[in-house]
Amino acid sequence: CGIVGILGRQPAAPLVVDALKRLEYRGYDSAGVATLENGRLERRRAEGKLRNLEDKLARSPLSGPVGIGHTRWATHGRPNETNAHPHATDRLAVVHNGIIENFRALKEELQAGGVVFETETDTEVVAQLVTREMRAGKAPADAVAAVLPQLRGAFALAFVFAGEDDLLIGARHGAPLAIGYGEGEMYLGSDALALAPLTDEISYLDDGDWAVLSHDGAIIRDASGKVVQRERQRFSPGAFIADKGNHRHFMAKEIHEQPEVVGRTVAHYVDLAAGRVKMPAELAVDFRKVNRIVISACGTAYYAGLVARYWFERLARLPVEIDVASEFRYREMPLFATDVALFISQSGETADTLASLRYAKAGGASILSVVNVPTSTIARESTAVLPTLAGPEIGVASTKAFTCQLAVLLALAIAAGRARGTLSERDEEGLVSALISVPGLMAEALKSEADIEGLARELSKARDVLYLGRGMAYPLALEGALKLKEISYIHAEGYAAGELKHGPIALIDETVPVIVLAPSDAVFEKTVSNMQEVAARGGRIVLVGEAHAAREAAVETMATVAMPAMNPIIAPLVYAIPAQLIAYHTALFMGKDVDQPRNLAKSVTVE
Ligand code: G6P
Repeated sequence: CGIVGILGRQPAAPLVVDALKRLEYRGYDSAGVATLENGRLERRRAEGKLRNLEDKLARSPLSGPVGIGHTRWATHGRPNETNAHPHATDRLAVVHNGIIENFRALKEELQAGGVVFETETDTEVVAQLVTREMRAGKAPADAVAAVLPQLRGAFALAFVFAGEDDLLIGARHGAPLAIGYGEGEMYLGSDALALAPLTDEISYLDDGDWAVLSHDGAIIRDASGKVVQRERQRFSPGAFIADKGNHRHFMAKEIHEQPEVVGRTVAHYVDLAAGRVKMPAELAVDFRKVNRIVISACGTAYYAGLVARYWFERLARLPVEIDVASEFRYREMPLFATDVALFISQSGETADTLASLRYAKAGGASILSVVNVPTSTIARESTAVLPTLAGPEIGVASTKAFTCQLAVLLALAIAAGRARGTLSERDEEGLVSALISVPGLMAEALKSEADIEGLARELSKARDVLYLGRGMAYPLALEGALKLKEISYIHAEGYAAGELKHGPIALIDETVPVIVLAPSDAVFEKTVSNMQEVAARGGRIVLVGEAHAAREAAVETMATVAMPAMNPIIAPLVYAIPAQLIAYHTALFMGKDVDQPRNLAKSVTVE
């Protein structure tokens, strides 16, 4: 979704709509605007494309100079007018991007206190919570300050308040938000692109920041409530399409964007209010009649498939065959009408993956694809497409596309499990709540960045690096090693932790860093034993795991990278972040071309 806020001098609604047009790439299921005129709050909202909102505004214009707007992407709650943003009470209106993970608990508490809800959205909970604080006598900024710590998840918010013509409040928690500076005017926007026609001077809020805007400026506070300064930057026209935000590289931006884009993707496949997964209507597969899933992909997308194998087998009791596409296409694998063939691709144009798809299609299997580019060849040739909503990925080394692929694949495995009766309604609810906790956990995991930066010097000296993991952390070890190889050119290998003793352990000495990805899952103890084997041979371990687990493991490590506690089923999505950051900071330290590593291409359309 996209967010805009304007604290101006002339009618805000047309400017808001214009800014929303620039954010339409973030979604266009419905849109809305709320303005303030002489303290009076008014809203216009419409289902569908922005044009519908424009028509509505033409019929009944808004002339207030202060406004917020929103364009929505197929999130939870149907894309009708009632569920469209802004959401409002008599005191305020709010627009929101992201997921409020704990909204059901908050909503029940508010309902118990007599609050009646108009919509099924998580956003309305925010509107009601802030309103409750205001009814208790708090000023708007204090009310927002009291509510923000209660909200879990990854999100961005913008508020306007009835009776407050000189006030706009924005908050950033895992989803981006920028402040724009004008001449006696101030703005909020999801990105610089949205604000481009209004101003060329912006500051990006840091995670956890919230800002109180008046016509004269902004007071920014961090999560602890301390007033902070965020650098004001000027951007040049034309830089928008390739906007790196506050980051030095696209890869860094794309790593940091994950709470937002994974949140968007999760929201697309989850009915938040019902606690169920939802699949596109065109996915006409009856999983009860499916005997096997056959997966084919290349590179990072292949590793997403390897993780998904664990999910399909465990949650849906569906056997999975998987191979890299360059092998699959020539393997002459027998295919059956009861097979579902699944292709995973960021670009949707990878030649080997496309050839595999055509082979499977000729063999009579139903064709599903998980793609990031909806207009791509693979998407067009599939029976049903499950889009990842990662947005354009520019960095050659795939990051956000990978975690979005994982989000879609987990949702699909849950849907298959429900259809096949291997998951109960309760199981599904538990899995869905794990899935919606991912963006918030990713935001937590990103906080390990400073520790990882400190590791880069050490890792940059290595000639070889090993990555170990068990269970779902095994494919992640492969992905971690691939990321490091791709952008730092250090030789790296991923191994199943239990396989170490069958060969690779011969490589271990004090010059080989061993990165162990060890979520607190059923095989954690076994991974610890494998770490002991490495430590006993002088290997230098970097342990990525939950802080308490790392302590309990009592293995001597070179460093630990602390992850938050989580349901282990979603660990691959969250542990992807340290794996990506390790590669990024090591390559950065070595001065490599992170976004365009040598010899590689973003989309490989040759065999
Ligand atoms: C190239 C890229 C990889 C990517 C692979 C598959 O090799 O460098 O990052 O994982 O292709 O691309 P796809 O677009 O099919 O996901």
